[in-house]
Amino acid sequence: MTLHEYTTSSAEETMELGRKLAPTLKSARIVILRGDLGAGKTTLVKGIAEGLHAASQDDVTSPTFTLIHEYRGPEVTLFHVDLYRVDTARELDTLGLDELFPEEGNLVLLEWGEKFPRFEKECDVEVCLERKGDQERKIVVKRK
Ligand SMILES: Nc1ncnc2c1ncn2[C@@H]1O[C@H](COP(=O)(O)OP(=O)(O)OP(=O)(O)O)[C@@H](O)[C@H]1O
Ligand SMILES: [Mg+2]
Repeated sequence: MTLHEYTTSSAEETMELGRKLAPTLKSARIVILRGDLGAGKTTLVKGIAEGLHAASQDDVTSPTFTLIHEYRGPEVTLFHVDLYRVDTARELDTLGLDELFPEEGNLVLLEWGEKFPRFEKECDVEVCLERKGDQERKIVVKRK
């Protein structure tokens, strides 16, 4: 396991961190993004999507109601998933995530993935975002 810790002082800095982390996530299959409401999970995804040339930061929006957004890049297809409103194993099944995971070149970014213990085991990387102030966030990247 490796741990890297960052501090950002604005949404722009968090997106910049996402762009920087993006190349290091290419070979991952499942990444859990952990943190309270408004911690900056979706903001980080904006940077990651841009870093993988899959979408521009403005085109990445929260999959709050749609649950999954797909962004296709030249090397990696990003699936941005929000499980905040998904509570049961049955609801989870209907999303069909298990079909996405084994596909070469798919990277699944899970917000609220820690609600389902299996994802904690299956994920390759866990990113924890913590609000330290209005603008300040502590961001810890754990790689298995
Ligand atoms: N350093 C920072 N990093 C990220 N976002 C920041 C930062 N400072 C302020 N913000 C603001 O905090 C909010 C983060 O919202 P975002 O949608 O990314 O959170 P989230 O963790 O995805 O929340 P949710 O669980 O509701 O989906 C945005 O309004 C953003 O502008
Ligand atoms: Mg979000």
